[in-house]
Amino acid sequence: MTTQLIKVRGIMENFDDFVRAGNLLKNGEVVAIPTETVYGLAASAFSPDAVGKIFKAKGRPQDNPLIVHISDFDDLAKITEEVPESAVKLAENFWPGPLTMILKKNEKIPLEVTAGLSTVAVRFPSHKYARAVIEAAGVPLAAPSANLSGKPSPTSAQHVMRDLAGKIPMIIDGGECEVGLESTVIDLTGEKPMLLRPGAVTLSELCRVLGDILVNPKISEEVDDGEMVASPGMKYKHYSPEAPVVIIDGEADAFVRYVMANSEGKKAAVLCFDEEKELFSDTGISAVSYGSKSNPETLAHGLFSALRTLDEMSPDIIYAREPELSDGMELAVVNRLGRAAAFNRISV
Ligand code: TXA
Ligand code: MG
Repeated sequence: MTTQLIKVRGIMENFDDFVRAGNLLKNGEVVAIPTETVYGLAASAFSPDAVGKIFKAKGRPQDNPLIVHISDFDDLAKITEEVPESAVKLAENFWPGPLTMILKKNEKIPLEVTAGLSTVAVRFPSHKYARAVIEAAGVPLAAPSANLSGKPSPTSAQHVMRDLAGKIPMIIDGGECEVGLESTVIDLTGEKPMLLRPGAVTLSELCRVLGDILVNPKISEEVDDGEMVASPGMKYKHYSPEAPVVIIDGEADAFVRYVMANSEGKKAAVLCFDEEKELFSDTGISAVSYGSKSNPETLAHGLFSALRTLDEMSPDIIYAREPELSDGMELAVVNRLGRAAAFNRISV
């Protein structure tokens, strides 16, 4: 199959392309679309066959459920059993945007979408091209991140091309994703709301709207083999370059010393803050920076792209830096990098 890459200049300029994307989706095909978080691989959420093509193209484990994307708040009630007050409040504050809510599904959502669960993850993205494709398709779209399973989520159409060229008919190229990390996921089906995945809608922002919320402990630690988890995605090795990643905690100079002392006889590479890149300039060690230490949004934006760049250098080991936790997007950055490193940390 040839994969068409459609470089979008605007909704009106590319109107026919959006109609074509919508028709592909109506006919049970998959299309990769930009969102404000990462690129998604979309299919009709009402079609088990179409959803099956997502799992096949990505090589995604069958028990990992998908997020359903809508382009109108009223569509939430059409695919769920009930819309609790907490969901209405969250939607008022954060939709459209990078927040996914888990609710009880109704019979319109096939079990293929939810991997057999009675709950469904729903998101109303803010990206105008994502919304245009959902509207052109005329149905809610199930869409996981558009990477091969196990690879970092794609934040550009070129990343999608690298993973899925030849496997899907169309990619809508809307340029780089603004956020760079996947949406915040919150479960609203329990007694108290529970954060399952941190993202651009931060824990403190969620607390401001809902009061007390639980935080799933697996956000910050490895899942053991066979362990039960609240979100199946937590079980899988994720966001992970071929080389092992080790997070190094400590001051910049101690970090450099550690890297120098531990790179003999192997090809080491470094994932660091912008402020530290220069420290490696005469060392012979490749350093890729992913954003400013003092600005977690830049780190979120650059992380996956930097991991892909590092992967292409085929190092034997990657020494990485993570921001200190605070009440912003640091938690999301630390979670994704932690998972790439299987939560391997060394203090220096
Ligand atoms: O930003 C995003 O959320 C992107 C864009 C494309 O919207 N999508 C995305 O999808 O990240 P994916 O499939 O890569 O991640 C979905 C996560 C997985 O960890 C999955 O296990 C979890 O959400 N999930 C989906 N449905 C669930 C459910 N009913 N209960 C618990 N977790 C669920
Ligand atoms: Mg994913």
